[in-house]
Amino acid sequence: MALQQTLVLVKPDGVARGLTGEVIKRFEQRGLKIVALKLVQVNMDHAKQHYTEDITERHGEKIRNQLIDYLTGGPVTAMIIEGVDAIENVRKIVGVTESKSAAPGTIRGDFTHVSYAHADSKEIPVRNVIHASADEKDAKHEMALWFSIDELCDYKRADESHVF
Ligand code: CDP
Ligand code: MG
Repeated sequence: MALQQTLVLVKPDGVARGLTGEVIKRFEQRGLKIVALKLVQVNMDHAKQHYTEDITERHGEKIRNQLIDYLTGGPVTAMIIEGVDAIENVRKIVGVTESKSAAPGTIRGDFTHVSYAHADSKEIPVRNVIHASADEKDAKHEMALWFSIDELCDYKRADESHVF
C-alpha cells in the first residue's frame, strides 16, 4: 500500500473566506488523515521558497511575483494530509488549476470560477483557494519547508480499520 503524505495550503483567499473548515471536511470525509496543521502568516523569503524558480520556468517571472504577493497577503492554513496515494487523491479533490475549468464537486470547482484571462487582465494570479503538492518531489520539499518533524502527529483514526 502506497501510504503517502502531501502538503496542502488553504491560501489567503480561502482563509479570508472562511473556507478552512470546508476544505478539511472534504479530506476527512474521504478517509484522509490530517497529521499536521497550523495557521501561518507567510513572509517573503518563505513564499519564494514555496514558489521556487520552477514556477518561473513554467509560468514566467511575472506570475511568480504575483504568486508571492498572493501567498503573503494574509494568513494561510497549512496542513499535511496522509493516506493511500495521498498526492493524487488530494489533487483530485482540489481540482484543476484554472478555476473556470475546475469541475463542480472539486474544491476549486465548488468555490471559485474565474478564468486565466480575467486574472491576467487584473494582473493577479487565479485565486483558487487551495494549494496541494503536485508530485513526490514537491511534497518532500514543501513538507520540509512548512513543518518540522516534531510538528507531525502519529495517531490512529477510529475509522481506520474500515478505511484502509
Ligand atoms: O496550484 P497548481 O499546482 O494547480 O498550479 P501551478 O501550475 O503550480 O501554479 C501555481 C498557482 O499559480 C496556481 O494555483 C494559480 O494560483 C497560479 N497560476 C495563475 O494564476 N495563472 C497561471 N497561468 C498559472 C498558475
Ligand atoms: Mg503546483
